[in-house]
Amino acid sequence: MPSNRSDRVVLVTGASSGIGRAAALEFAKRGSTVVGVARRLDELNKVGEEAASLGGRFKPVRCDVSEKEQVFAAVGDTVEEFGRLDVLVNNAGVGLYGEFKDISLDEVETQVKVNLMGVVYFIEAALPHMLKQKFGRIVNVSSVAGFITVPSMSLYCAVKSAVTVLSRGLDMELKKHNIRVAAVCPGSVDTPFFNNPSVNSRGGRPIGPVIKPEKVAKAIVSAAENGGGVKIVPAYYWSAVYLVNTLPFMYRFVEKGAPKPRAKINKH
Ligand SMILES: NC(=O)c1ccc[n+]([C@@H]2O[C@H](COP(=O)([O-])OP(=O)(O)OC[C@H]3O[C@@H](n4cnc5c(N)ncnc54)[C@H](OP(=O)(O)O)[C@@H]3O)[C@@H](O)[C@H]2O)c1
Repeated sequence: MPSNRSDRVVLVTGASSGIGRAAALEFAKRGSTVVGVARRLDELNKVGEEAASLGGRFKPVRCDVSEKEQVFAAVGDTVEEFGRLDVLVNNAGVGLYGEFKDISLDEVETQVKVNLMGVVYFIEAALPHMLKQKFGRIVNVSSVAGFITVPSMSLYCAVKSAVTVLSRGLDMELKKHNIRVAAVCPGSVDTPFFNNPSVNSRGGRPIGPVIKPEKVAKAIVSAAENGGGVKIVPAYYWSAVYLVNTLPFMYRFVEKGAPKPRAKINKH
């Protein structure tokens, strides 16, 4: 295990945009070696230039997190080049908007493969190395939507709930090996997450206050430094989570506040 926190080798998925980009830059600023993973190499290269201007080290790696061979290759190459992998940030994700009856099976599979299987593949690939080096920090970027179900995002909510629950369970199992697993669960964040066609065509929009990705990035770095557990960002959302989960009638307000689908979509 590196004695100095700034010496760490950190792999961030979804580093080409939004929260992942901000997290990669935050780690780079602190002196970590950052391996940034995503499908768009051109965007990763721009993040690399920014990291270099901050004095950080950033290696771009093209990888689709839903393809397990690519995931194992990304982790294997990281360990081969840098000798270890200290911190894994599973952040890549996609939120497709629409009532369940209207979304296609392809959209269902994409969300499960990217948001859940991508996380599982990276943990599977990283664990043997972390066990061997007797040190590891895994931070999974989940969502408040994993605690508070919103209509027209039911599958996304279900998958994020699975990511949070998996994180808690793995933390219990792995802490005896000096490997800690955390879930960072943001509310709405100002990123291109809401730019996908399903959101635009089906009337989706962020719910509640919208925070900056840099705030989530700081929570990710702090989770990597301080160990496991579940962090909601911003923390005041804990009260909303508590209310809707202890007083189920509060869901009436969630339903009222959630965006309504704009148009009827034909199932394809
Ligand atoms: N924005 C929010 O309001 C919000 C709220 C709660 C939780 N979250 C979660 O935060 C995480 C980051 O989202 P964001 O808001 O930063 O969105 P974003 O700006 O759209 O970034 C998503 C990132 O995921 C990557 N990605 C998507 N599919 C991928 C795939 N198959 N393989 C590899 N990389 C893939 C994208 O890179 P490429 O396209 O280059 O592959 C991009 O870097 C997600 O897990 C999301 O669910 C977001």
